[in-house]
Amino acid sequence: MPESTLPVPVPEAVGKLYDEILHEELSYGFVNRQLHIGFWDDPESDTPYEEAAVRFTDVVIERLKVDANAHVLDLGCGVGGPGLQIVERTGARVTGISISEEQIKAANKNAADAGFADRALFRHANAMQLPFEDESFDAVMALESMVHMPDREQVLSEVYRVLRPSGRLVLTEFFERGPRKAERNPAIDGFCRVSMVTLPDVDDYVPMMHRTGLRLRELLDITENTMQRTFREMSNALTEIDRPVRFQLSDLLGVDEFGCLLAVAGRP
Ligand SMILES: C[S@@+](CC[C@H](N)C(=O)[O-])C[C@H]1O[C@@H](n2cnc3c(N)ncnc32)[C@H](O)[C@@H]1O
Repeated sequence: MPESTLPVPVPEAVGKLYDEILHEELSYGFVNRQLHIGFWDDPESDTPYEEAAVRFTDVVIERLKVDANAHVLDLGCGVGGPGLQIVERTGARVTGISISEEQIKAANKNAADAGFADRALFRHANAMQLPFEDESFDAVMALESMVHMPDREQVLSEVYRVLRPSGRLVLTEFFERGPRKAERNPAIDGFCRVSMVTLPDVDDYVPMMHRTGLRLRELLDITENTMQRTFREMSNALTEIDRPVRFQLSDLLGVDEFGCLLAVAGRP
C-alpha cells in the first residue's frame, strides 16, 4: 500500500497543537489524562470511554513486562496519565517526553499530586533526537504518538539506541486497513490533517522495524476493540457539550478502513 501523501508533521507545530488543546481543556475545566482512544475487550459492552482509555494503557503495560527495577521511557507522554499508570501498576521508574511544553508542566504536576514525583519525571524533548545515553532504558512505550512523528524509521532507530539489549518496545499506531473507497478520503484525510497525523506504510512496517535492528514479537490489528466505539462515544459526548470542535468525529463513523495496530518489538 503506498505511503500516505498527507503533509509530514513538523514536531514544533505538533507541540503547539497540544499546548493549545491543553489550554482549551483547562478553559473548559476538564483535562483528559489518557490522551488516546479506548480499548473494549468486548466492543458491545457498556464500559464507558474513560474506563476503556485506562484499559488501553493496561493492555500496553501488560506487554512491557517490567517490574520495580525497570526504567521505562514513555515516548510522547501527554499529560502523564499512562506513565503514572505504569508506576502505579508495576513500581517501575518512568521518564516521559513530549514535544508540548505545556503538557510537560501538567505531567510533572500530576506526578507530584499522585505522590510519584520520585518515580516519574517528564521533560520536553523531541523523539527524533532523544536526549538520552545509549542503552539507558529497559522498555519503551509509544502510545499513539508515532502517528505525529515525521520519520518513523528514525524514531525506531532512536528507540533501538536507548534500549538495553533484551529491552522491549510496545507501540500503538493508526493505519490504513485496506483499499480505501474514494468516498472515505475526506473523513480520513480530514482527521489526519487537522490532527497532524500520517498513516504508516503497513507493508513496510516490519521490514522498517528490522532495518533499525529491532525484532518484531507481536503485531495485532486492534481496530475492532478500539476505533469505531471511540468515535461513537466521543461524537455523542461532543453533541452534549456546547463547544467548538476541531474535527467532526462523527464523520469517521462507519469508516472501518481507519484502523489501529499494536506492535511489540525487542532489541536482541
Ligand atoms: C495522542 S497524544 C498521546 C499522549 C499519551 N501517550 C497518552 O496516551 O496519553 C500524542 C503525544 O505524542 C507527543 N509527540 C508527538 N510528536 C512528538 C515528538 N516529535 N517528540 C516527542 N513527543 C511527540 C505529543 O506531544 C503528545 O504528547
